[in-house]
Amino acid sequence: MVLTLVPLPSSVTAGSGSFALSPATRIVIVDGADAAASALSDLLAHRPGLRSEVTTDPAVAGDIVLRSTDSDDEAYRLDVTDRVELTGSAAGLFYGIQTLRQLLREDAGAWSIPQVSIVDVPRFAYRGVMLDVARTFFDVATVKAFIDRASSLKFNRLHLHLTDDQGWRLQIDSRPLLTEKAAGTSALGRPGGFYTKDDFREIIAYAAAHHMVVVPEIDLPGHTHAIGLAYPETVEAPVMNDMLLAQSESLGQPLPVAGEPYQGWGVGHSSVRIHEEATWDFLRDVLGEVAELTPGPYLHVGGDECLGTPQADFDAFVERVTALTIELGKTPVAWHEAGSAAVAEGTVGQFWGSDTPSPEHIEHTLRFAERGGSVILSPSTRAYLDMKYSPEDPLGLSWAAVIDLEAAYSWEPTAIVPGLDPHAIIGIEGPLWAETLTTLDDVDHLFFPRAAALAEIAWAPASAKDWNAFRERVGGLGSVWDAEGWGGHRPAEIDWSTP
Ligand code: ACM
Repeated sequence: MVLTLVPLPSSVTAGSGSFALSPATRIVIVDGADAAASALSDLLAHRPGLRSEVTTDPAVAGDIVLRSTDSDDEAYRLDVTDRVELTGSAAGLFYGIQTLRQLLREDAGAWSIPQVSIVDVPRFAYRGVMLDVARTFFDVATVKAFIDRASSLKFNRLHLHLTDDQGWRLQIDSRPLLTEKAAGTSALGRPGGFYTKDDFREIIAYAAAHHMVVVPEIDLPGHTHAIGLAYPETVEAPVMNDMLLAQSESLGQPLPVAGEPYQGWGVGHSSVRIHEEATWDFLRDVLGEVAELTPGPYLHVGGDECLGTPQADFDAFVERVTALTIELGKTPVAWHEAGSAAVAEGTVGQFWGSDTPSPEHIEHTLRFAERGGSVILSPSTRAYLDMKYSPEDPLGLSWAAVIDLEAAYSWEPTAIVPGLDPHAIIGIEGPLWAETLTTLDDVDHLFFPRAAALAEIAWAPASAKDWNAFRERVGGLGSVWDAEGWGGHRPAEIDWSTP
C-alpha cells in the first residue's frame, strides 16, 4: 500500500495492519500536549462520524497518545500500532498531526490509520510561502485559510507582500494617510482594503498557532507608487520603461500617473526619494511600527525591479535600509537584486531568478553569503506559484515559465546558484503573486498541488527525490484536500483516485 504522505518523512516503516478510529477514540495528553490535542480533536471533528474525547487518564490500547517533549526542534516520532503514539516538541506534534491528517482513511464509513512507524525531521529551517495581498487585497479570513493550507504541508514561514504600486495594506499609526488614501484599490479595479494593527496581530497569532512565522514585506525603494497617493513628497515621478510601455499597450492597461491609483500590472516605474531625509523619517516610522508589531525575526524590505533607479542610488538605499532594519532589531530580507549593494551583515537574500541564472543574478545572490547572511531560493521558473500550469490555464502568468507539477517538483535547491555554499541556504519559498487572482478558489487553483511539490523539496531528504513515487503519493492527497473543503487544480498527469 502507498502511504500518501507529502512531504515524505525522513524515515517511514510501514506495518501491515491498521488502527481503527471510532466515536469512542480518546486523545490522551501526556506532559502538556494540550494545544496539539485541541488541533487533533478539531481535525477529527471535521470527519463525518468521528469524535474524540481529550483526557489525561493513563493510555490504553485504542487511544491516540500525544506526548510533549521540551525540545525546540521541529521533529516528531509517530508509531501506529494498536494505539497511536505521537511524540515531539510543540512544533513536532503539530507536524505529526499533519501527517495523521494525510494518513486518515475512510472506507464505507469506517475511519482508520495504517500501521506505521515514522521518525521525521525537516531538511530546511525556512519553508516559506508568500501571499501577495497588494495586487489583490485578501481579507483576514482568506489569509487564515491560506495558513490552514500551507501549514498542513509543513510550511513554517508566511511572507506577506504588504505593499506595492497598487495598494498599501497595513495600518501605520504615525502615517495614517497610507491606509486612508493608498489602500482603496487593488489591481484591475478589484476592491482594496487593509489590515488594522489588530487584524495583523490576529493573523500573526493564527500563524503562530499553526507554527508559521510571519515575514512582513514593505517593498522598497521601488513598487512604491501607492505611497505617493498619501505622502507625495516621499516618491519620485513615475519613470516609464520599455517593458511597462509594451505591457500597458498589449494589455490595454493605463500607464501610471503620479497621485492617481495605479491598477495595472506594470513594474519598475516607482521609487521613493532616496536622497531626501523626509523619506528616511517616513521609513523609520513605517519600518519601526512594522518591526514592533512583528514577533518574528525577519523584516523583508524588497529591493526588486527598481528599473528607473540609478545603480548608485539603489545601492546607497539598500545599504542604509538594511542597516536601519538591523537597528530596529530585525534581520533584513531582500530580493536578490539588493546583493549589488553592501547589504548589512547578516541580510538574507531571496533569489528569484531562473533556474539557470544570469552571471549578475549569481553574483548578487552570492553577496549575501559573503556578508554573513543566508539565502532563500525562489527560482521563478520552478517555485513561483503564480505561474500557469499550462498555456491554457485561465489563471496565473507565464513570464517566467509555464510550471507543471513535475517542473515544480524536479529541482534541487543546492544546484540553482553555482558557487553558493549549501550551508548558506536556509530554505525555499513559493511566492504567490496575485495579479490574476480574485478569490480563495483562485488561490487554491494555483496552490494545490504545486505547493505540495515545494513542501517536499523544503522538508524531505534530498535523497528521497523520485518523481514517480511523488506522483503516487500526491495522488492520495486529493481526497484529503477534498475532505477539508480545499479546492485546487487536479492535473491529469496524476491519478487522483489513489486511495
Ligand atoms: C519579483 O518577482 N519581483 C520578486
